[in-house]
Amino acid sequence: MAGNTIAVIGGDGIGPEVCAAAIEVARAAGATVETVEFDLGADRYLRDGEVLSEATMDALRSADAILLGAIGPAIGDTRIPGGTLERGLLLKLRFTFDQYINLRPFVGQVGSIGEGADFVVIRENTEGSYAGEGGVLRRGTPAEIATQGSVNTRFGVERCVRYAFDLANRRPKRHLTLVHKTNVLTFAGDLWQRTVDEVKGEYPDVSVDYNHVDAACIYLVEKPMNYDVIVTDNLFGDILTDLAGAVCGGVGFAASANMNPMRTAPSMFEPVHGAAHDIAGKGLANPTAAISSCALMLDFLGQHDAAQKITAAVTADAGRDNPTQPRSTAEVTRAVIERLA
Ligand code: IPM
Ligand code: MN
Repeated sequence: MAGNTIAVIGGDGIGPEVCAAAIEVARAAGATVETVEFDLGADRYLRDGEVLSEATMDALRSADAILLGAIGPAIGDTRIPGGTLERGLLLKLRFTFDQYINLRPFVGQVGSIGEGADFVVIRENTEGSYAGEGGVLRRGTPAEIATQGSVNTRFGVERCVRYAFDLANRRPKRHLTLVHKTNVLTFAGDLWQRTVDEVKGEYPDVSVDYNHVDAACIYLVEKPMNYDVIVTDNLFGDILTDLAGAVCGGVGFAASANMNPMRTAPSMFEPVHGAAHDIAGKGLANPTAAISSCALMLDFLGQHDAAQKITAAVTADAGRDNPTQPRSTAEVTRAVIERLA
């Protein structure tokens, strides 16, 4: 069985509060977790310039999993150049630890337009337009050129597609939808489509569909219950999962797992939502997404019983929210703990 040392990177804004709530729930559910806090994010960077040093990477590498709250400066904070923390911290962790699967499950909350929906987005997490390919020439001049390419390798696409088929094959509906833009992004789209077509032969029980990403935005709003497993590239997955969160009741409920299925480095679990600096430190953040991310983490670490208890409690607690009178972080945490069977 895997160990239980959890590196906690609370990060920015509401990140530390929602992580603390998640750990409290995990312990109440009987999980064995030993936490080590890492002070990283905007404040740390402003204090001593560290984004993520090699020494910190080594320390993180020795953890069994990472629980991350949120990373990113407040919008309009010009002290930190855009991308410094996103690329230097969050993406560095995802890429260096080869967390190539970003798994984001969605269950439509009662009363949301996604009510009845139950699907998972498998977002490729180490390539695409996030890879950092490109550059700028003659910056600031009228002749400036900026390019930003999308990197898609057969290896990277195939391991992601295989993971998605495997997951679909274990779910009752056994349905997989590739989302891309093959009619315009003909090179990358073709690679994705051919990979899906080839792997599909190994999964005769999984029915396969394809949606262009723009059409998928319509279907996600109009009939989200038709989806089961969506597989897509890094950027489309980023955008679609914010939309899916909103459709299913709000990103405050959306959990995610950045997984290294080969377990050659720690996986990282984080809510889909951001730092929400406007409500930070006020005890107003909904910790549900962090709590559910923590359940994904416990499951990955082999603590299935605690994971299952937490998921059941979150599901039972869902729908308790009155949008006109939101509960505090502490109230939601207490309510989930009370529902742990
Ligand atoms: C997410 C976030 C990140 C991403 C940002 C903060 C770099 O939006 O996890 O969805 O784009 O992947
Ligand atoms: Mn995002």
